[in-house]
Amino acid sequence: MLNIALSGCNGRMGRVITEIVAGKPEMRIVAGFDVNAVRLADYPVYADPSACTEQIDVVIDFSNASAVDALLAFCLTRRVPAVICTTGLSTEQLAAIDAASKEIPLFRSGNMSLGINLMMDLLRKCASVLGADYDVEIVEAHHNQKLDAPSGTALMLADAVSEALPYEPEYVYDRHERREKRPAHEIGMHSIRGGTIVGEHSVLFCGRDEVIEVKHSALSRDVFASGAVNAAVFLAGQTQPGLYNMSHVIASMK
Ligand SMILES: NC(=O)c1ccc[n+]([C@@H]2O[C@H](COP(=O)([O-])OP(=O)(O)OC[C@H]3O[C@@H](n4cnc5c(N)ncnc54)[C@H](O)[C@@H]3O)[C@@H](O)[C@H]2O)c1
Repeated sequence: MLNIALSGCNGRMGRVITEIVAGKPEMRIVAGFDVNAVRLADYPVYADPSACTEQIDVVIDFSNASAVDALLAFCLTRRVPAVICTTGLSTEQLAAIDAASKEIPLFRSGNMSLGINLMMDLLRKCASVLGADYDVEIVEAHHNQKLDAPSGTALMLADAVSEALPYEPEYVYDRHERREKRPAHEIGMHSIRGGTIVGEHSVLFCGRDEVIEVKHSALSRDVFASGAVNAAVFLAGQTQPGLYNMSHVIASMK
């Protein structure tokens, strides 16, 4: 039996994870962490992870950047691996995750869907073939409750493109104050926020007389939740500390 602690358990993603885990006899949620410490399901909810005394095999985190420092401290003290899905983390937090992964297994991905991770491979291929002759622009759309922009996924996609480009691109998030032609070596990122859009990402390679668009649409939160649960099973099976991501899970599925 896999014992899971769910950070951000009362949020949108937390509730989907709770439903998915309830349908799996081989795992259960034994504790929830949430600043809104209301018990909504059949597990206790703690505002402060350090108050939790349950035995935990792995943590799944879909909360808020402000929760991640305390969560990481908890995981280090208790030697518990964690799947960190929260986005909008600061450079310092990313460095802290890196450092902690030298001591415990950690998993971090700005997007837990299989499709986005496949899309990253396609983008590397596009960038390496199309190279410097095509301008790269990324357009992402999410629901009106999302806190960070651009999305963590848009940044992941930009990083995948950058890895394969023959130049180091500058990420540009806003052009409204600039009065100049588009410089060649940049990746423009544009965020749409509205309604209940789950997550749309388009990467455009715009060349002379042609545009190649690679697009992913998430139609429900289940794709991220299922990916996180699969990642938790994978991570709980890791005996070595390290920083894991979806590419490790995909490799383990082959
Ligand atoms: N990696 C992915 O695939 C993926 C997919 C979807 C969402 N996300 C990210 O997951 C996070 C949560 O998304 P959501 O849509 O469920 O958000 P949400 O706002 O619906 O839920 C967040 C939950 O965290 C709790 N919380 C906020 N601050 C906290 C704190 N300081 N300590 C403890 N709990 C706190 C809130 O009370 C809430 O219940 C966001 O960062 C989002 O961008 C990642």
